[in-house]
Amino acid sequence: MWTKLIAAVLLLLLSSETILSANSLNVALNDDVLGLMVFKADIRDPYFKLSTWKEEDDSPCKWFGVTCDPYSNRVTELHLDGLSLSGHISKGLLRLQFLHTLSLSRNNFTGFISNPILTQIIKNSQVIDLSENGFFGSIPEPLFIQCGSIRTISLAKNKLTGQIPDSISSCLTLQNVDLSSNQLSGGLPKSIWLLTSLRSIDLSNNFLEGEIPKEKIETLFDLRVFNFSSNNFSGELPEKIGECLLLKSVDFSDNYLTGTMPLSLQKLSLCNVLNLRGNYFAGELPEWIGSLKSLEFLDLSVNNFSGSFPASFGDLESLKSLNLSLNQFTGNLPESLAKCLNLTVVDFSRNLLTGTIPVWAFSLRLKGVSLSGNQFIGTVEFGEETAAAFDTLEILDLSSNSFSGVIPLSIGNFSSLVFLNMSSNGLIGSVPPSLGGLKAANVVDLSHNWLNGSIPAEIGGAALLNELRLDGNFLTGSIPAQIENCSVLRTLILAQNNITGSIPVRIVNLVELESVDLSFNHLSGSLPKELTNLSNLVTFNVSHNDLEGELPLGGFFNTIPLSSVSDNPSLCGSIVNQSCPGAHPKPIVLNPNPSHSDKGSSSLNLSHKRIILSISAIIAIGAAVFIALGVIVVTILNLHVRNSVSRSAAVALTFSGGDDFSHTRSPSSDYGKLVMFTGDAEFVSGTHALLNKDCELGRGGFGVVYWTALRNGRSVAIKKLHVPGLIKSREDFDREVKKLGMIRHSNLVLLEGYYWTPSLQLLINEYVSSGSLYKHLHEGNSENTLSWRERFDVVLGTARGLAHLHRMNVIHYNMKSTNVLIDCSGEAKVGDFGLVTLLPSLDRHVLSSKIQSALGYVAPEFACQTVKITEKCDVYGFGILVLEVVTGKKPVEYMEDDVVVLCDMVRGVLDGGRAEECVDRKLKADFPIDECISVIKLGLVCASQVPSNRPDMEEVIKILELIRCPSEGHEELE
Ligand SMILES: *[C@@H]1O[C@H](CO)[C@@H](O)[C@H](O)[C@H]1NC(C)=O
Ligand SMILES: *[C@@H]1O[C@H](CO)[C@@H](O)[C@H](O)[C@H]1NC(C)=O
Ligand SMILES: *[C@@H]1O[C@H](CO)[C@@H](O)[C@H](O)[C@H]1NC(C)=O
Repeated sequence: MWTKLIAAVLLLLLSSETILSANSLNVALNDDVLGLMVFKADIRDPYFKLSTWKEEDDSPCKWFGVTCDPYSNRVTELHLDGLSLSGHISKGLLRLQFLHTLSLSRNNFTGFISNPILTQIIKNSQVIDLSENGFFGSIPEPLFIQCGSIRTISLAKNKLTGQIPDSISSCLTLQNVDLSSNQLSGGLPKSIWLLTSLRSIDLSNNFLEGEIPKEKIETLFDLRVFNFSSNNFSGELPEKIGECLLLKSVDFSDNYLTGTMPLSLQKLSLCNVLNLRGNYFAGELPEWIGSLKSLEFLDLSVNNFSGSFPASFGDLESLKSLNLSLNQFTGNLPESLAKCLNLTVVDFSRNLLTGTIPVWAFSLRLKGVSLSGNQFIGTVEFGEETAAAFDTLEILDLSSNSFSGVIPLSIGNFSSLVFLNMSSNGLIGSVPPSLGGLKAANVVDLSHNWLNGSIPAEIGGAALLNELRLDGNFLTGSIPAQIENCSVLRTLILAQNNITGSIPVRIVNLVELESVDLSFNHLSGSLPKELTNLSNLVTFNVSHNDLEGELPLGGFFNTIPLSSVSDNPSLCGSIVNQSCPGAHPKPIVLNPNPSHSDKGSSSLNLSHKRIILSISAIIAIGAAVFIALGVIVVTILNLHVRNSVSRSAAVALTFSGGDDFSHTRSPSSDYGKLVMFTGDAEFVSGTHALLNKDCELGRGGFGVVYWTALRNGRSVAIKKLHVPGLIKSREDFDREVKKLGMIRHSNLVLLEGYYWTPSLQLLINEYVSSGSLYKHLHEGNSENTLSWRERFDVVLGTARGLAHLHRMNVIHYNMKSTNVLIDCSGEAKVGDFGLVTLLPSLDRHVLSSKIQSALGYVAPEFACQTVKITEKCDVYGFGILVLEVVTGKKPVEYMEDDVVVLCDMVRGVLDGGRAEECVDRKLKADFPIDECISVIKLGLVCASQVPSNRPDMEEVIKILELIRCPSEGHEELE
């Protein structure tokens, strides 16, 4: 407020020119102060970097970022780089009549680049750096028309669009132009090379196209840096480009350029960098390449160059990095490179090269050697003379060639080797135990060779190994238990060998494992149960082995594809459809009744009273067990809560403190981070604490939900997860929540973001205004109750939301009427889906305790350890919800000394032919009875005891659509 006021006064003063010019020198000084104060008033300075700028000062010369001329004391330079300033550039700067250098790079200034103030400033300056801001729009033609004495202009890394104006050619004083990393398009002005003072021009990373102007390029005597990379330029390079004799760096990579390398390039004896990567250049490498004596970096990769290498390569004695990959070069590697003593990286991969590995490959102190995808032959040897590379080489890629012989033991001497790939060759012999000496190795790939013998136990010495691939060899013996020492292993591929023995139990300690393929071996024994603890697993393929015993259940193994375990004749478990001898007896609830299975799921016929009775009795028993279990678990959870309450309270306090939510800091390690998928993260704070008790919207098994508003006025619902001690690690949580955040459907509540600390986790959800279905069904009076049409739409919307979840392979796990919200247009939105995946493992006890509040909706298979939980458990919950919608009754209602289980009650009434009796009384007579009965039947089928008898959600949607339009010919729903 204060600063705004001052700014307003200052502006007033500024605009009254007469007052100012009436005074003399003093006022002239104040001119700079005023100008800068106005400038400051228009920008945001979140870190108070400009706090030394005070309007009461006589002179701004001591201010941060300000440079004055020592004689006149007038401001000549302003350097405010990287201060996180934002806002617009205001008129104030025009006041600084002697400003010649303005550097505002790496801030958040925005606005049209064609803003007249900016144009004026650029005209009057010599050096302008506005790079890495948010300026947008196209560069105005007038900008360069009277460009005065500008020497350097950088507008790099903004959001500029449109063409580079022709007028730029008239700015003859220009020396350095950097317009890189914008979205500029179109061709270059034909006369651009009239800019004979140019020393560097960088137009990289734009969408510029057309040919590179040739006219007068030879007059750029002073040009040193020429960067046109990552554009859409086509045609050939200007023939005379090499006449710019001072060129040090030439980069035309990633364009569509054609032709050969112009002859004139040979004159660039001062050039350090030549990058032509990723074009369509063709032809042979000329002998004159050796005259580029200063070259340190040469990249000709991804072109159509062909022919063999000229011997003159060896004259490039300063060469450090050479990349010739992905061309059609033939012949041998040049022996002469042995003279390039400073060479560190060579990449010849994916050409048609032949011959053997030259001695220099290991005798120079190289860091990287890549020869993959050629036709090299011979053995791989690291002799005495290679000692030089033993402590330097980090990358060795010899894959996909025809190398033969054994892998030398001395490979273990490469103490810096990070990446070793010798796959797809004809290597024989054994896997050298010395691999254990590769202390720095991340990747070892020896797959698809003819290696035999066993995997050496010494492999455990390679403690940083991330990826080990030995598949497609003839390895025998067992997997060494020492593999456990490779504690950061993510990928372990040993498929297609002849490996025997059992899978070492200690493999379960490799918690980072993501991808494991042991298929096509002769592994025996059983799978360790603890494998389910590997929470990062994405694939675990043990198919085509001789494994036996029970498949682990839980975690990744709940959803393991059949193809990953198939062809292990003695493996049992529900996934391979083979019951385990002596496994837990099947609970009685799931004994499929013959009359049920006869009819199948497509028949909506309902069964006899006798069966119903038994099932309902069982459900009642099940319910009682759930309640008891729930009570115990809740007690335990409460104990946990008490312990953690003090910790989370500290954090919660800082939330209500009034800080910006996204900047909340707390001295403890509880400091967390807010992630919004939808962009806007500014919460209204101060007046409203984020988790304000008065704004509580509801409570569920997973936590309490609060309402709050974003700064732009939009409401969101914040769910404070309440699962002490059960939450996953930060990484797992991030991953799972992001997965849920990507699910978007008009019948699903959008997950907008989250906040995580070890003791506090918040989920930020779309706010749905009209409350839950539960509230509408059970808490309203009969006046404002949902009409039949509205109820039907809610059922259909819920079905669509669930079907989408299932398409995205997400199981809701917690279907109930409190989790179906209704928005202001009456549309149903399913919320709280997949929250179970945020818990460390899909442990059934945890599951049933978390959703015990959803009593009555819980599918019977949750009580049964041996049955896999599938999306059919949601169909069950949906079925119960349908009955609830039609009857207006809760799934389980407690009478004085009786428990009424809704679906049993409905079955009974329906069987008795009195269906209309169970329809919600609040609907009065205002419902089509045929439609109601069909919906009830659908609900009952969805709530079948046996999961396979329930339809899937896509079928449910089709049936509902048929029910709604009976005229369009449907199967009789009898
Ligand atoms: C610019 O603002 C965005 C958000 O508006 C922020 O994420 C970014 O860090 C800021 N950049 C700088 C350089 O301050
Ligand atoms: C090799 O590199 C060193 C150190 O960077 C440098 O002094 C030397 O001049 C280089 N040799 C050649 C031939 O460029
Ligand atoms: C694997 O071992 C068996 C005998 O143990 C042998 O018959 C078979 O040829 C071997 N297969 C391979 C691919 O080495």
